[in-house]
Amino acid sequence: MSKRKGSVDAPVLGAIDKSAGRVGEQLARMLREAISTEKLKPGERLPSTRALAISLDVARGTVTEAFGQLISEGYLEARIGAGTLVSRAWKEPEWRTRPPAFQSSPGGASSLPNTVARYAAAARALRAMPAVPFSIAVPKGDVALDDTWRRLSNKIRATQAAAPTTYGDPAGLSSLREAVADYVRKSRAVTCTAANVIITSGTQQGLYLASRVLLRAGDVAWAENPAYPGLTAVLADSQADLFRLPVDSSGMDLAHGISKFPPARAVFVTPSHQYPLGMPLSMPRRAALLTWARENDAWIVEDDYDSELRYAGHPFPSMQGLDPARVIYLGTYSKVLAPSLRLGYAVVPDPLVDAFAGARALIDRHSPIADQHVISAFMRDGHFETHVRRIRRIYAQRRAMLLDELGRQIPAVEIQPSDQGMHIVAWLPEGTDDCLIAEMAYMAGIAVRAITPMYEGPSPRPGLMLGFGGFSESQLREGVAKLKAILDQYS
Ligand SMILES: Cc1ncc(COP(=O)(O)O)c(C=O)c1O
Repeated sequence: MSKRKGSVDAPVLGAIDKSAGRVGEQLARMLREAISTEKLKPGERLPSTRALAISLDVARGTVTEAFGQLISEGYLEARIGAGTLVSRAWKEPEWRTRPPAFQSSPGGASSLPNTVARYAAAARALRAMPAVPFSIAVPKGDVALDDTWRRLSNKIRATQAAAPTTYGDPAGLSSLREAVADYVRKSRAVTCTAANVIITSGTQQGLYLASRVLLRAGDVAWAENPAYPGLTAVLADSQADLFRLPVDSSGMDLAHGISKFPPARAVFVTPSHQYPLGMPLSMPRRAALLTWARENDAWIVEDDYDSELRYAGHPFPSMQGLDPARVIYLGTYSKVLAPSLRLGYAVVPDPLVDAFAGARALIDRHSPIADQHVISAFMRDGHFETHVRRIRRIYAQRRAMLLDELGRQIPAVEIQPSDQGMHIVAWLPEGTDDCLIAEMAYMAGIAVRAITPMYEGPSPRPGLMLGFGGFSESQLREGVAKLKAILDQYS
């Protein structure tokens, strides 16, 4: 290779391994390395592409490609008449020469933004439970979506309408919005048209959208105490100040909020089936909450997560139907179809429709179109209501059987009165560490959720959430026996 003054020898780069392929990438990596370690110094001239190609025994185009890549990354610069030089502006960032603080010492993690710890805690709080008794929302066996779903799903996915195509409406597929509007009008006394319906990826997203659209920095939000951890994590992540209202046998204690807390911009509530305790919000309290919201220009976010599953009488009508201008109604397919579908809906007042659609678009544009087509057809053809009727009957039997079995095997637990949903709450004897019991249960192959972490401040009593939906009677019986053994071992 002819060597001009100031140019570098190829040996500083090392040898190319042609058998490993991607020769251009190898060369670029070697050049980067040589510059970073100052074997090649700023301002130093590289051999011509021709000379370097001969010296390395590679195609000239390969060298040109590697130079081009490093010029665009700022390691090299091309000068007319002077060839290619190591960039004179190049300076290895100081941090590249030492490991990041958080890798070298655990204390260094304090340099991470506090959002990191908050989101990591949310990941722990919302981690999926294994599909063993008493996990909640496990659509397996008799309560799984059946052949009708599979056949319809395959048929729809094969149609042109559901074929992959361009972006869709962030508010959702119009036929699904129609189907949802028909369904919630009829079964939940929701007042709306399809134009009020926003298809979401589940109620979790509905809660997130509501918090983003409704709450500004410094606003106040009220939520129940205890509450769904996915809601409290969303509100902790918002710019609002959160106040928790106690719950008694009539549901959320509004009077407590009014007398003790600053007025809320938005109130998040589970009026049909308080989460996790299960009582409905009484009619007088619903009326009082709506009146208060009107007088204080506040929004109500109604999380109606499992009201289809009421076992005594008909499901309670929604609060939204009593004041559609004040209430954001959230529904989900997670409980009655399957959580893995990640589909649900929000019914929002006219002035909020575009904002909810826009907030949705900022997250992920919209839910997959093919999935929306499938649920839309499932609802339109009447299969959805047939499925809900079928699983409600099975759940009612399993629930009665679980209550019986708990009473027989573990009389020390007290069952929280409730007549709907896919879980029950079993109160444990005073002083029991429900989180420890939940951990012991996990090790023993059953899945229960502890109640105390769902409270802000001390929980009045320790307790466990037990889901019964996806398990046969014998699995439930066995689960109760395991739980009894754990409680015996604990005490
Ligand atoms: C009270 C409550 N709200 C919201 C959700 C979130 O449901 P989805 O799966 O629709 O996001 C859940 C899920 O368990 C829940 O229990």
